[in-house]
Amino acid sequence: MILALDQGTTSSRALLIHHDGSVVGMKQQEFTQHYPKPGWVEHDALQIWQTQRDVAQQLLQEQQISADAVSGIGITNQRETTIIWNRDTGQPLAPAIVWQDRRTAEQCERLVGAGHSERVRNKTGLVIDPYFCATKLRWLLDHTPDARRLADSGKVAFGTVDSWLIWNLTGGQRHITDVTNASRTMLWNLSDQRWDDELLQLFDIPASVLPDVVLSSAIHGETIPDLFGSPIRIAGIAGDQQAALMGQNCSRHGMAKNTYGTGCFMLMNIGNHPMLSESKLLTTAACRLDESPSYALEGSIFVAGAAVQWLRDGLGIIEQSSDVEALAAQVDDTDDVYLVPALAGLGAPHWDAHARGTLIGITRGTTRAHLARATLEGIAFQVADVLDAMKEDSGIDPTELRVDGGAAANDLLMQFQADILGVPVVRPKSVETTAMGAAYLAGLATGFWKDTAEIETIWTVDKTFHPTMSSDDVIHRRGRWRDAVSRSRHWDKA
Ligand code: G3P
Repeated sequence: MILALDQGTTSSRALLIHHDGSVVGMKQQEFTQHYPKPGWVEHDALQIWQTQRDVAQQLLQEQQISADAVSGIGITNQRETTIIWNRDTGQPLAPAIVWQDRRTAEQCERLVGAGHSERVRNKTGLVIDPYFCATKLRWLLDHTPDARRLADSGKVAFGTVDSWLIWNLTGGQRHITDVTNASRTMLWNLSDQRWDDELLQLFDIPASVLPDVVLSSAIHGETIPDLFGSPIRIAGIAGDQQAALMGQNCSRHGMAKNTYGTGCFMLMNIGNHPMLSESKLLTTAACRLDESPSYALEGSIFVAGAAVQWLRDGLGIIEQSSDVEALAAQVDDTDDVYLVPALAGLGAPHWDAHARGTLIGITRGTTRAHLARATLEGIAFQVADVLDAMKEDSGIDPTELRVDGGAAANDLLMQFQADILGVPVVRPKSVETTAMGAAYLAGLATGFWKDTAEIETIWTVDKTFHPTMSSDDVIHRRGRWRDAVSRSRHWDKA
């Protein structure tokens, strides 16, 4: 078996994957989200580690699988979330700043105002935005008591969640990250494949805090024996969206997938050249199996499933997230109500940290069913905006969009998605694509799977949603959506 550790934004999960690709068992534990101020989102780094360790241990115990029966561990993680810890004690120096956190918006605006956008984009493939690690890391070094002094004496380690987990799994022996995670820091030079001195200077980050950058698929060390009874090899590492691209078998140029999680992340394989976007998409490293790097275009949408959680937790109009489909199905359309789920600003292709969620078109006749439907449609419209940008950049008209993540199970959303895209939406049998991607990376390194050809036979289709909406209807609705988006922009400055 391969043990996949999937450390996401809201929960830590462990999955045991069989050679035939089936999920033998899964354990999941949610952990606390901290919102200390408007726009701030934090995690307790120790809780991330403890929940991840616990689910892995419980899973092996429950399935009565000994560590010797595990060929390797594949790690996949929420990306960009930024952690610093003391190299001597292994203790975090501050709460982890989560990828959704907007506290460095002003710092980013200053950098844009000072004319750094082009240089940063050329080097990293990224748009200057609080989303990425660089400004978060600077904030942590500047605001955590003693952090700068400790960093100057080489005692501070920085890492994304993969680095933090590997540090703990190996008892502090390895401080590493893979290229997919490095490419989200805004400190990694994408075409030169190295940490960039100029960027380190620009963001005032000492090189001593950085992890070593390694391949996504290779044996990088082993877990300390105490954890699982005997050591297990750590053989796969990738950010969750790049892992999902791998898990969806999007191995050829032009193939794209969209994951519906807390946010939505569409990635398209663009081969071996880090082509830059003209439509405000990101260029990012795809999983690196060998010496030859490969890249993806990415459209990152900050709020998707999180909008459904808001219906549940903020408004209380559904009891559990999965209830949204039945509620939305009570009405045939939204009755011209639009919901722009810019609850954490807007990501691609708008990049407006000051946009805010907008609900427009409500009348006395609007019900919670309309609201539920408008929320689902708002998710799909955002995805359509990103696919348009991707077509524009790549010159490729994808023949299908592969989907996964929690909300991919929602047939109503998937049908509307196909309608509004005008492209078939394909859902695979296993929607555990993120964990599968991490497992593939580990299994290829340990020889559990022979090669990528063997892996490709595992992916099979569950259902294809074909577009049925008339083009007039699509044009009308997308026009109304664009109007709603323009009203959500720059709101918190108003
Ligand atoms: O870039 C953020 C992304 O990696 C988070 O993914 O699945 O935890 O919402 P998820």
